[in-house]
Amino acid sequence: MKALVLSGGMGLRLRPFSHSMPKQLMPLANKPVLLHVIEQLRGLGVTEIGVVVGERAEKFSQYLGDGAEFGVRLTYIPQDAPRGLAHCVAISREFLGDDDFVMYLGDNLLPEGVNDIAAEFRARRPAAQLVVHKVADPRAFGVAEVDATGRVLRLVEKPERPVSDLAVVGVYFFTAAIHEAVAAVESSARGELEITDAVQWLVTRGVEVRASAYRGYWKDAGQIDDVLACNRELLDRLKPSVDGEVDAHSELIGAVVVEEGARVVRSRITGPAVVGAGAVVEGSSIGPHTSIGEGCRLLGVQVSDTIVLERASMRGVTSVRGSIIGREASVSAVDADGSHRLIVGDHARVEVAA
Ligand code: DAU
Repeated sequence: MKALVLSGGMGLRLRPFSHSMPKQLMPLANKPVLLHVIEQLRGLGVTEIGVVVGERAEKFSQYLGDGAEFGVRLTYIPQDAPRGLAHCVAISREFLGDDDFVMYLGDNLLPEGVNDIAAEFRARRPAAQLVVHKVADPRAFGVAEVDATGRVLRLVEKPERPVSDLAVVGVYFFTAAIHEAVAAVESSARGELEITDAVQWLVTRGVEVRASAYRGYWKDAGQIDDVLACNRELLDRLKPSVDGEVDAHSELIGAVVVEEGARVVRSRITGPAVVGAGAVVEGSSIGPHTSIGEGCRLLGVQVSDTIVLERASMRGVTSVRGSIIGREASVSAVDADGSHRLIVGDHARVEVAA
């Protein structure tokens, strides 16, 4: 089985970070969400992976290279514009050949994995095997109507009045039967070639399409609050380890990772939290649920439920929470007349105490 990981799209809901970095490279617990996906695919025994990339294709190759470092073989497949998930399958035809494949949306996080569902697909090989998850409000997703035996009866993309509470998760298993369906569908009202329509095309023709429930944690890390939620979720699974230096005046409480070359000086770190390689944390109180990226400098700060991206610096600011600080950004307190000085990038969002 091969894999197709979709990492194109504009990431508009993740601005301003998506101005300089594809959303699939946003770190969760200090590791890009796409790498969490790749590790999971490798766990399924899948090593031939096509990655559909959009505008910032070079960022992926800079970070992931040919995949050898991660035990997989990556083929980058450029998409000229986000024309839909079925379009991604169409442009990957040559890479996929007639092999079975798993299509994984590069911003979907399923920490519990889909090993049992992959095994079910491999044993039974329906034309399409969907993964579904019960949600309170399925209107933002593809929605599946499934009978008691697991057969899909109907699929609708982002319906106003959902026929069930089963949202379609961003992991799909296909045989080569999907290619005829993808070639047959037309653009939807939102101007995309929808995979939901392609799968519905199979259902309408009486071809076997099945759905299995995933019962673990699932989120699509496409918006700021969802990124923070995913970060918390992954940090909650953290195994503590200290490879950097922690001085005698510091205290680590709970699951804390201090990566190689990091220094923690006169600080209290409350887990779950991770301090990235080469970062320096001094005179600060960090955590819980906080990821400090590689090479950051934090001095005299108090930060919780936050992601600080690589090489950012923070000095003298307290009560920071629910925040994401961009790469090489600088946040500091100064002696001033009580006014704020803000140099904020396009589409950024700043909330200060009134
Ligand atoms: O997250 C699950 C949902 O994903 C499903 O329930 C929906 O049925 C499915 O259509 C999809 O909906 P979204 O509107 O959330 O998809 P989004 O546009 O966010 O794209 C998902 C991923 O695929 C994202 O990592 C970007 C990538 N992508 C998207 C498009 C439209 C591409 O690589 N190329 C594209 O043309």
